[in-house]
Amino acid sequence: MKKTQLLDTSATGLETAADLLADGALVAFPTETVYGLGGDARNPQAVARIFEAKGRPSFNPLIVHVPNMAAAERIAVFDDTARALADAFWPGPFTMVLPLAPDHGIASLVTAELDTVAVRVPAHPVAQALLAAFGGPLAAPSANPSGQISPTTAAHVLSGLGGRIAAIVDGGACAVGLESTIVGGAPLALLRPGGVPVAGIEAITGPLAPPDAQITAPGQLASHYAPQGHVRLNATQAREGEVMLGFGLMECDVNLSETADLAQAAARLFDALHVLDATGRDIAVAPIPEHGLGQAINDRLRRAAAPR
Ligand code: TXA
Ligand code: MG
Repeated sequence: MKKTQLLDTSATGLETAADLLADGALVAFPTETVYGLGGDARNPQAVARIFEAKGRPSFNPLIVHVPNMAAAERIAVFDDTARALADAFWPGPFTMVLPLAPDHGIASLVTAELDTVAVRVPAHPVAQALLAAFGGPLAAPSANPSGQISPTTAAHVLSGLGGRIAAIVDGGACAVGLESTIVGGAPLALLRPGGVPVAGIEAITGPLAPPDAQITAPGQLASHYAPQGHVRLNATQAREGEVMLGFGLMECDVNLSETADLAQAAARLFDALHVLDATGRDIAVAPIPEHGLGQAINDRLRRAAAPR
């Protein structure tokens, strides 16, 4: 493949990106969670290229990104609860798995032939501007090779997928830093913890059901976000040969948040893993409290540490 183009967020950059997408090419773009690898969700070839570029198992369905509720309703069916959640959390780091609407136009590879679709309205102004310039729904998984650390900067995307995708729109670092929270199913279940803490969702829906094995996000493979070295969790200090990822005031190589702020830790997590991964050493990780965004941070860390 040709060299991957780096585009800026000017009108010209976004028009180039939109033209590439209309041709069925792949363009990575920033969202407030992580960089997404975008392709036209209605074009089977474009969607197939996403799986190919990521080396992703094709049974794993993708999230469809749309600019607003009107566009969301063209592809998915909303009940009252889904509508209330959309009102509360869109645009934002939140995804719902809903029944496909009639005449949705989404390529069947996107949903892995399921009769449901994952939908998200991102808040990032560049994601919104790109959706407007393109004028259609974008299928976009995180823009990293399957199983590896998610990208929160254009440089992360370039190092993982450079040469395998047409372009990257560089919109700086992602503010949330963790993927969206995913809910779906009836009774409504938490399919993936993420950028919206569960307590906020349950304030609207009541207690969420534990994930149903049948509909659990198939992408929730045990090993994911994996650095090259071994990852050891709940470490109080580094052992010989390890680099240390800290939280709160402590001695370490990279600190997620000196003030033990979970939002700051979430925003820094993937970049910290990329930096420590580049040392080639094993990684020891300080304990992170399991509340609020800590639940999603610990979910990612457990997968990074899982046997592979
Ligand atoms: O923050 C995010 O959600 C990012 C940005 C780019 O928007 N995207 C992202 O996509 O994390 P991805 O493809 O890495 O994760 C999508 C998750 C997977 O676990 C997948 O299995 C699940 O959503 N999923 C998608 N469609 C589904 C469906 N119909 N039923 C159940 N799970 C679904
Ligand atoms: Mg991912």
